[in-house]
Amino acid sequence: MSNAVLPVYGPSPVVFARGEGVRMYDDKGKAYLDFIAGIAVTSLGHCNPVLVKALTDQANTLWHTSNMFRVPGQERLAQRYVDLTFADYAFFTNSGAESIEGCIKIARRYHWSKGAPERIGILSFEGSFHGRTLGGINAGAQEKYREGFGPRLPGFRSIPFGDHEALKEAIKAPDLAAVLIEPVQGEGGVRAVPDQCLKGLRDLCTEHGVLLIYDEIQCGGGRTGKLFHHQWVAGAEPDLLAAAKGIGGGFPMGMILATAEAASGMAKGVHGTTFGGGPLAMAVGNAVLDVMTGEGFFEQVRRVAGTMQQGMESLKGRYPELVLDVTGAGLLRGLRMKDDPIPLRGKLSDRGLLVGTAGNNTLRLAPPLVVTEDDVREAIDIIDQQFASMMTAAGS
Ligand SMILES: Cc1ncc(COP(=O)(O)O)c(C=O)c1O
Repeated sequence: MSNAVLPVYGPSPVVFARGEGVRMYDDKGKAYLDFIAGIAVTSLGHCNPVLVKALTDQANTLWHTSNMFRVPGQERLAQRYVDLTFADYAFFTNSGAESIEGCIKIARRYHWSKGAPERIGILSFEGSFHGRTLGGINAGAQEKYREGFGPRLPGFRSIPFGDHEALKEAIKAPDLAAVLIEPVQGEGGVRAVPDQCLKGLRDLCTEHGVLLIYDEIQCGGGRTGKLFHHQWVAGAEPDLLAAAKGIGGGFPMGMILATAEAASGMAKGVHGTTFGGGPLAMAVGNAVLDVMTGEGFFEQVRRVAGTMQQGMESLKGRYPELVLDVTGAGLLRGLRMKDDPIPLRGKLSDRGLLVGTAGNNTLRLAPPLVVTEDDVREAIDIIDQQFASMMTAAGS
């Protein structure tokens, strides 16, 4: 079959026909347990009836008006996120990369408006991933994503993950505008930043007048058992936050959260988007938040996350020849493997379990947040069977 899609992906040959809850079904009717959720996106499962209703009701009413006009759903969702977080303002985008771009612009504009236009520096950490736009690949610390796309743009720089001395030096740079960090690094290997380091980073940024930007595109949206991961750490609130993925439950939407101070350089005409904050996305975004703020939602996420962690730890204990570590937080977890996990991902898919991979030889698990403890046990069982057969093959 000819394929006219630009060949930048290498998709698996399985073709999915439909999804329901935590399961997807291929075009031959085979069921799969979905423990990757479109890479931490379908946070409330496939075709969640609450979201389907919100979307179809809105689709039958009004699709798009642009930001030339007020969008009531946008104003409501902005206020709700402001009420639930550190932020004074929300700005809606269409993707994670667009949220990152906006955060970088707001940070630079902040310093410009304070009479320090030379402060354009954006500091990130080794292994970080901030999207595929030019701003995103320049902000991100992975050289492979910049290859062939010109020299690194002025101001962008990175230091090793967890190197406190390098951070203390880099934060002093007089041109530094902001530090950009994923509180739980996703693509780089599902690595959680220790709580005390997030707090320390917050204090350092405050001390040096540098803005702190959290990329919670993957670890936010309820994934670690709070609306945003940094909310686990008292006193570690950022100045700006980029979100996307899970906050739309599968409908493309992103969001920037900002304090009034960080956003003080922004004014009419300074930034914009045609589609961001449109009625369809806002209807779904409000419905996602309705579900997540419902009674007991996060308690259940934390409970299931505990079961998943235990299951993964027990796999590590039983297969030390294969598994090096269990990483991540909440329902964003990694099994750091001795060997490249990509072939393993294929084998698990053959067994009916969909997982992802990440850097540092990591098998990535990010199921929908509505996953049950039985689903988790089933998934761990499938991995167990696969590991057992790998051990048998290795011994024979
Ligand atoms: C932490 C992080 N930042 C940014 C992005 C980019 O988001 P998008 O693909 O929606 O542009 C991703 C996507 O994987 C991500 O995980």
